[in-house]
Amino acid sequence: MTGKSLSDPIKRIVFAEHKYFVDGQWKVSKSGETLSIQSSYLDGEIGRVQSMTIEEIDAAIKSAKHAQKSWSKEDMKVRARLLRAWATQLVADKDEIATTIMNEVGKTFSDAEKEVLRTADLINFTVEEFLHMSNESLSAESYPHGSRNKFAIIDRVPLGVILAIGPFNYPVNLTVSKIVPALMSGNTVIFKPATRGSISGVKLVESFAKVEGFPPGILQLITGRGNEIGDYMIQHDDINMITFTGSTRNGQNISQLAKMTPAVMELGGKDPAIVTANADLDKTVREIVSGAFGYSGQRCTAIKRVLVVDEVADELVKRLSEAIAKLKVGTPNDGDVAIVPLINEKAADFVEDLINDAKKKGAKIIVGGNRDKNLIYPTLIDNVTTQMRFAWEEQFGPVLPILRVRDVEQAIKITNDSEYGLQASIFSEDFTESIKIARELEVGSVQINGQPQRGPDSFPFLGAKNSGMGSQGVKNALLSMTREKLTVINL
Ligand code: G3H
Repeated sequence: MTGKSLSDPIKRIVFAEHKYFVDGQWKVSKSGETLSIQSSYLDGEIGRVQSMTIEEIDAAIKSAKHAQKSWSKEDMKVRARLLRAWATQLVADKDEIATTIMNEVGKTFSDAEKEVLRTADLINFTVEEFLHMSNESLSAESYPHGSRNKFAIIDRVPLGVILAIGPFNYPVNLTVSKIVPALMSGNTVIFKPATRGSISGVKLVESFAKVEGFPPGILQLITGRGNEIGDYMIQHDDINMITFTGSTRNGQNISQLAKMTPAVMELGGKDPAIVTANADLDKTVREIVSGAFGYSGQRCTAIKRVLVVDEVADELVKRLSEAIAKLKVGTPNDGDVAIVPLINEKAADFVEDLINDAKKKGAKIIVGGNRDKNLIYPTLIDNVTTQMRFAWEEQFGPVLPILRVRDVEQAIKITNDSEYGLQASIFSEDFTESIKIARELEVGSVQINGQPQRGPDSFPFLGAKNSGMGSQGVKNALLSMTREKLTVINL
């Protein structure tokens, strides 16, 4: 460890070479190699993580499989108590974890802090939800030719070892949304964070390790090159379920490799805000700006295109441009800014390519359009057409394309022509109109007069088409990580 830390007002984590965590022990890889972790806005590396070998991965999975046998038999009230203690520990460690999230993935400190607190709530809610999920019994009596002498007890049993692969943009919250339902329902977990996000993953597991009483092997932290170890783990015979959040391209790869291993995936999106002639424009602008530009648009649920009917398009663009021009731009060191640098230069290159494509084909930049390294200034582009890449490709950056449509039917068609189907927002004060549009949209969720978002975490969260597979949210996560087991009693 070297002492590169700085204190407030600019919060810095201490540079360290972090170990991996298997069987309740922090270990250095025999590979002798580490991966450098860079920040999205601080100069130089902020830490290093172990590049684990295949043998070490095998040992981790073997230990998780072994630990699962006794963990699944542990009294669920004990599992609940330990997980609640972890929630309390996370709150106690909030500053360090939030500082790590901020330094590593470039969220503002207050957003990072909210992520940690949201995670503690998520743990407590998940525990409660599982405690209230009861076993069922079923009689055969009601079935034609069934008999009252035959009935079944239906238990929910864990699947075994769950592989949880997290994204960079919520390195703590989206990870815990996988780990906790798995552990609470009696599974054990192999957790592989996104490479950029690994140190936040280490801090998360450090807080877990501080809780007295978790048996070794129930949560293993794996770090290393995704392309070397990721595919290997996905195909491993002793992985019983995969839960993944990340890009559609990686999700498709997992889906091909996983064969019969069940998988739940949250992938990309191109969420539209459909603005009708009946929209309350003040509310609409507020929701669109916050939904499109929060964390520089690096959220799967960010608003990624506006489909506005011609009648109100000029007025909407005018109001949006005024609001977007006021957005604060900077780095997390500047406090509560809305627009921060993107995760890396490659991400900014991609967004810039989309802007150039739109400009070349005749779109009009109303605000922004400029870039400084991986910082893309908040940008509003009008007159985007379906011939432009911006109508279809997920920007994951602070650029909002406006597509003007003649009527809501055209907005519905453009929404549904997308390969994605995560969420969609409809802005209209005419409730009947909103419901009619909502019924036509091929997406996982529709938000009426609000921005797309995953929360509250108790709601089902799912994407149609290339936006995902299966459903999440606390209850669905618990269901996806367990299966029914029937014991039939014949009297
Ligand atoms: O990036 C994908 C997340 O699931 C979005 O979550 O809507 O709470 O920001 P959020």
